[in-house]
Amino acid sequence: MSTLYDRLGGAAGVAAITDDIWTNHTNNPLVALRYINSDPEKIKRLVREQLGAATGGPETYTGRTMLESHRGLNVSEQEFLAVVEDVLDALDKNGIGQKEKDEILAILFSVRKDIIRV
Ligand code: HEM
Repeated sequence: MSTLYDRLGGAAGVAAITDDIWTNHTNNPLVALRYINSDPEKIKRLVREQLGAATGGPETYTGRTMLESHRGLNVSEQEFLAVVEDVLDALDKNGIGQKEKDEILAILFSVRKDIIRV
């Protein structure tokens, strides 16, 4: 069986999905304000690295840990769910199947304790 990374379309697929995640976040009233001071290219690069590394790609994640990145932000359960839905919508838009979406969902859910209200 090919890696999840391959099934997401490799580097090009991960890049397209990441662009759509960013677009969804910045258009989602539940979380858009969180990102107004962010550098889009920097955040997208880190998300591409993280998504690639987490799914079996050759990328190395060079960003901060999830705990370091989200500490002090007081991220709510509702915001976490909104971000997860933005990711699922981006996967849908890129034609990613249910099995792959379930695998991504499990990865996202696994980091919730390092993000929500830390
Ligand atoms: C679902 C799981 C999530 C993942 C995998 C994730 C991933 C990341 C990554 C990779 C970074 C960059 C790390 C770095 O700066 O070194 C980051 C930063 C950040 N995240 Fe998340 N995140 C998640 C959920 C959330 C949620 C729910 C919020 C709040 C709505 C949020 C808000 C932010 C903010 C404000 C930053 C800092 C942006 C900046 O420094 O410009 N994240 N996140």
